[in-house]
Amino acid sequence: MKTLIFLVLAVLGANAAVVKSPAARSNLNVGFIATGDRLLHSSYVYRPAMANAIQSENVSFNGNRTTRITAVQATEVGATQFASAWIFSGGIGQNSVTVRFQSSVGRGYYYLLRVWGR
Ligand SMILES: *[C@@H]1O[C@H](CO)[C@@H](O)[C@H](O)[C@H]1NC(C)=O
Ligand SMILES: *[C@@H]1O[C@H](CO)[C@@H](O)[C@H](O)[C@H]1NC(C)=O
Repeated sequence: MKTLIFLVLAVLGANAAVVKSPAARSNLNVGFIATGDRLLHSSYVYRPAMANAIQSENVSFNGNRTTRITAVQATEVGATQFASAWIFSGGIGQNSVTVRFQSSVGRGYYYLLRVWGR
């Protein structure tokens, strides 16, 4: 009996390790929107579910020479699909940002991506 419980725990642990995405949570919310900041970029990032697949893509916003990004938000639309979004490069205080979106196995994602700054 003890052996069985140990096995079950071991299997659960292994599954958790596989499903976990690198340093990411469902929603991305970094930085602070201050007075005078504007919405520099807004777009929907969508992928339908695909059997047995992990889907991913990079979405970039590139400002001009003087752009300073103050906040980056990627918010799941509707019920969570346990996807992940994280900043891959650039970001707060810079003039560009690339956000990586990644689905869970067999699922899709639907995010609203917003970049704020001045
Ligand atoms: C996103 O960008 C990284 C670095 O350029 C690249 O390795 C990766 O394949 C890209 N992913 C997708 C889904 O385009
Ligand atoms: C550069 O981008 C900022 C937004 O970050 C905008 O307010 C400004 O007008 C742009 N400047 C030029 C020269 O396009």
